[in-house]
Amino acid sequence: MKQTHIYDVLIIGSGAAGLAVALQLDPNLRVALISKASLQGGASWLAQGGIAAVFDKNDSSDAHIADTLVAGAGLCHEDAVRFVVENGPASVQWLINKGVDFTREEGQTTYHLTQEGGHSHRRILHTADATGKEITGTLVDRAIAAKNIDIFEHHCAVDLVTQADSNSRKIRCTGSYILDINSGAVSLFRAKSVVLATGGASKTYLYTSNPDGASGDGIAMAWRRGCRVANLEFNQFHPTCLYHPKAKSFLITEALRGEGALLKLPDGSAFMHNFHPDAELAPRDVVARAIDHEMKRLGSDCLYLDISHKPADFITEHFPTVYKHCLEFGIDITTDPIPVVPAAHYTCGGIIVNTKGQTDLLNLYAIGESAFTGLHGANRMASNSLLECLVYAHAAATEINNLQDQITEPDFVKEWDESKVADSDEDVVISHNWDELRRFMWDYVGIVRTDKRLQRAEHRIKLLQKEIQEYYSNYTVSRDLLELRNLATVAELIIRCALQRKESRGLHYTLDYPELSPIAKDTILVPFNFAGQNVIINRR
Ligand code: FAD
Ligand code: SIN
Repeated sequence: MKQTHIYDVLIIGSGAAGLAVALQLDPNLRVALISKASLQGGASWLAQGGIAAVFDKNDSSDAHIADTLVAGAGLCHEDAVRFVVENGPASVQWLINKGVDFTREEGQTTYHLTQEGGHSHRRILHTADATGKEITGTLVDRAIAAKNIDIFEHHCAVDLVTQADSNSRKIRCTGSYILDINSGAVSLFRAKSVVLATGGASKTYLYTSNPDGASGDGIAMAWRRGCRVANLEFNQFHPTCLYHPKAKSFLITEALRGEGALLKLPDGSAFMHNFHPDAELAPRDVVARAIDHEMKRLGSDCLYLDISHKPADFITEHFPTVYKHCLEFGIDITTDPIPVVPAAHYTCGGIIVNTKGQTDLLNLYAIGESAFTGLHGANRMASNSLLECLVYAHAAATEINNLQDQITEPDFVKEWDESKVADSDEDVVISHNWDELRRFMWDYVGIVRTDKRLQRAEHRIKLLQKEIQEYYSNYTVSRDLLELRNLATVAELIIRCALQRKESRGLHYTLDYPELSPIAKDTILVPFNFAGQNVIINRR
């Protein structure tokens, strides 16, 4: 049934970012937590490797900052890096206080710290190889128990609602239209503050480690309402996803390489030392490109990751999820190398925010993978993203708590009107366009780019967008249609960003401009209806 819901805070997304902000809001505030999937449906649930934070006495914030800056290839915003790294241990401690149980050293109270690419120290806290499940599961239990939080699973945000603020005359966000996926009804959710915690957009690509919902909805919704976005050309490809015709998007955690696994060619020889002095532990962009290069050179469908030289009980104890999952496909990782390929994994760019998570729209926040904070630069360092979710969730919750009394109730807003649309009789249009988009993004806007490929992709996306817009205007909305519309918007933004970058840096590698430009610059896209500069990011 269609109705208007009124809350103090509306949070769209129930991954690590959305849950962490919900649980740090003043318990007197009425909060709606929305997820288009089940509460367990986001990328957070799938996180394997862990969360990076300085917990070892021989490690330091300066070292974590330096590693992040190196991985980011000169494009990180140093103040954002410092902000996240220095607040990292407190955010991890908050998780521990909520009940998250990280793996400890055998027979000791200290935490076992693993290592991943780009990190000069062991600094990744983890729960075996199912860290996301432990973190998200714990926070979900807390959110369900919280009396001030109403949870709406299988509800999909359609678009943000905005209006002119009577005091400042700036545009403010006052809620969102939300589709109940089961009933098909679209309701208005009104709130004084709105948080986008909708995750990334790696589903723009044919092969991805991400769950189905990673369609960049928050990025597209914010853009449509006048928020700037930045650095979307930097989509990270994880070097090692399981390659098996029947295995859908399964990641083989980088922590295997941290514990000594070697990347191998089909003839069994290791090759990463030919590409980087840190070999298997080189930054992720270098490893993904090396694999792509070797696969193309050899005409091979996959390469191999081999940890079988380690004792079997070490492997099954540290990597029970990977072990069990591979065994289901007949691969025993204690004896066999694992067939792997790179796949789209993480969206480094996103909605521009400041260190409080505020966007260009008043009262609209973006946190987690949907946001661009400046932390990751041109290449995210492994296990820094869960940390970013937590640190920015805390910052945004603090700001919302502080400002809440000063925000007036939103004005009357029109209900969703579907009097002029009909039910679709041609859903094949959606599935066809979805496949086409993801395939040309993989072929033309993938690990290695050229201007010509990007221009081809630009041409294709314009045609698709026209068709999708026409379809959207005529038919009732469904989750698939909304995701396709958002994917097309984000794909366009990725292509535009990629075309603007005339150099190779971090994750953006183009054969036309293989050199690094002496000046490191963000790619900032400004929408035609730019909401006004609420947020200042001149921090580099
Ligand atoms: P998500 O966890 O993706 O949550 C997004 C939420 O938004 C979901 O609840 C979704 O249903 C909801 N949503 C989206 N659109 C809408 C809409 N229109 N309406 C309503 N709801 C919507 N990072 C690390 O730091 N360490 C790791 O070990 C690690 N391992 C990873 C392993 C895998 C397989 C993957 C895919 C990622 C991994 N990452 C890791 C990255 C990290 O998990 C993500 O960056 C992070 O979890 C993002 O959290 P989030 O809360 O921003 O988004
Ligand atoms: C992994 O476990 O390899 C993923 C870590 C990450 O993406 O941060």
